Amino acid sequence: MAIKVVVFDAYGTLYDVQSVAGAVGTAFQGHGAYITQVWRLKQLEYTWLRSLMGRYEDFRSITRDSLDYTVGTLGLTADEALLDRIVDSYNTLSLYPEAAEALVALREYRLAILSNGSPSMLDPLVQHSGLSPYLEAVISVDAAKVYKPDPRAYALVPDRLGCEPREVLFVSSNGFDAAGARSFGFKVARIERVTPGGLRQELRSGGPIGPATMFRALRMQAEALGYAPDAVVNSLLALPRLVESLKG
Ligand code: LAC
Repeated sequence: MAIKVVVFDAYGTLYDVQSVAGAVGTAFQGHGAYITQVWRLKQLEYTWLRSLMGRYEDFRSITRDSLDYTVGTLGLTADEALLDRIVDSYNTLSLYPEAAEALVALREYRLAILSNGSPSMLDPLVQHSGLSPYLEAVISVDAAKVYKPDPRAYALVPDRLGCEPREVLFVSSNGFDAAGARSFGFKVARIERVTPGGLRQELRSGGPIGPATMFRALRMQAEALGYAPDAVVNSLLALPRLVESLKG
């Protein structure tokens, strides 16, 4: 069945979560790299823990709690307003450089976002980045009150857009998300922003392994969960040709 809808993950796929590093580094001199990486690791961990506990809180709260946790590991304190401002930097994350061009090239398809982000984070982010005109829908898992990779989160896409799962190409750079989407029944393209060879080189360089390398090893590789993606590409610009090839 031909692909009719292309659905993008937001954080790490269209938007670079590493672009919080500036705000974090300014607020916590000397600890920017550590806080940036542990914050993101904890943030996703809390989505899974809260989903398993049946204690959903929206992604804005989770993002704030995981920042509190991370700053706390250093024994640092910060005023609430500063921490809120750092969380607000999620509203103005940078787009990956090729993202807008890729969406334009895909305009003959129905395009949407499915993200863990709460509507109060996604709406300003999409607006700020100028992607609104290209997107038919910005779907937040908040409507299902459970996070990806729970199938109820992915089910929001066919429910909202009135399509079959196999008519959807889901695009994510997050290994857990790619596996979850494939397990749900979408066609999946994983964006490989860090190649296994590049990571191996970093890990085997002999120097100390820093937080950014740890992050790349833990979150920017294919997971060993099965449910391999239908395609792995290194840029969003590879998608138009891929969608075409999945037509048959
Ligand atoms: C999202 C997370 C997975 O945007 O990055 O849903």
